[in-house]
Amino acid sequence: MEIETLAWLRTTEGGRLLAHAEQAWAEHAGDPVRVAGAVRRVEPDPEKAAAATTQAQLRAKAVAKFGDAARLMFFTPDALEQATRTRVADHRAARLAAAVPGGSVLDLGCGIGGDLLAFARAGLVSAGIDLDPVRVAMARANLEVLGLPGAVQVGDATSVDVRGFDAAFADPARRGGRGRVFDVEGWTPPWPWVLDLLTGRSLVKVAPGIGHDLVPAGCEAEWVSDGGDVKEAVLWSRSLSTTHRRATVIADHGLATLTEDDAPPPGAVGADVRDVGAYLYEPDGAVIRAGLVTAVAAGVEGGLVDPHIAYVTSDQAFRTPFARGYRVVEHLPYREKQLKAALHERRIGRLTIKKRGVQVVPEELRKRLALKGDEEATLVLTRVAGHGTALLVEPF
Ligand SMILES: C[S@@+](CC[C@H](N)C(=O)[O-])C[C@H]1O[C@@H](n2cnc3c(N)ncnc32)[C@H](O)[C@@H]1O
Repeated sequence: MEIETLAWLRTTEGGRLLAHAEQAWAEHAGDPVRVAGAVRRVEPDPEKAAAATTQAQLRAKAVAKFGDAARLMFFTPDALEQATRTRVADHRAARLAAAVPGGSVLDLGCGIGGDLLAFARAGLVSAGIDLDPVRVAMARANLEVLGLPGAVQVGDATSVDVRGFDAAFADPARRGGRGRVFDVEGWTPPWPWVLDLLTGRSLVKVAPGIGHDLVPAGCEAEWVSDGGDVKEAVLWSRSLSTTHRRATVIADHGLATLTEDDAPPPGAVGADVRDVGAYLYEPDGAVIRAGLVTAVAAGVEGGLVDPHIAYVTSDQAFRTPFARGYRVVEHLPYREKQLKAALHERRIGRLTIKKRGVQVVPEELRKRLALKGDEEATLVLTRVAGHGTALLVEPF
């Protein structure tokens, strides 16, 4: 979108067209051609019509990240994809605001302002810069429509002096960095710049796949999950860090955080492998990424099922935000033929298969098991003390 078109969308006339486009999406969500037609009927200028149609669609999509505020905001498709969701950004901003109360922060590459808005909401004096003028205009508009203070301008993060601010934040654009492999190639701004930034008072959002060996000495790495999905890791520079590794779990009912100080020392409860007890726990992805599975084991007074597998077991039922708990119903044979017979005998027709540390493709196994019956169950396939193990479990 051109900056001029964005400016027009913000006029009364543009706002009316946007509202019309939003209404059209609400009525014909599954039919983009009909939506476009409905918008074109009231706005003959193809560029304005297309901008309103796209913007209305992006707002609807953005509700998942920004809640109702999205209905007022402006996005580009890529910038929305890259933006930090409100719950995660608010957590980060609150933590920074606690570290530098009433302080200032410079967001180096602010995009449409996912993080910048959160910093401003947390009471920090917030400024953002970005290379992309359209994103800058959108971030500025987003602050305005949400009634938040802050300044945004076009600029190159790599040539800015951050010393006038209490903290600097960066969320570099990454190419293919969200998958299993953490690749520092192709970052903008680049990884060496990130390392340099982290020598000052700063924090940097990175992909959750970051290896522990890449975390600069003295920095804290915080892995954050929201609603059970790991969203990101954040590197906190030495002067802002309070530990080395942290897992923060955000859920509808609040937030919980675990650090390496919660991990048991060798020999203490939770540190070791033990037999499978009456309960099994599946740690949250942030806990696993942070390497804090033994901290969960200590919290449920249990142990690990295997030194290399992220399942925890205990004789007791605990509610913990850091893991999903299951009652172990029974041990089943691990060999496929006997397993199939056992499931048939129990009339299990619907089966959730969870696996860790074993070479199984759940969809293919489910087909081969040819399930029949009205019962529903959850099967865990894993390695216990080096041996393949099948456990029938139920969530509690
Ligand atoms: C991942 S996005 C930031 C998203 C943002 N944190 C949010 O929540 O909306 C990265 C941004 O950095 C900007 N960027 C990349 N290199 C830059 C540079 N050298 N200077 C300024 N901005 C840059 C990109 O234009 C992009 O908007």
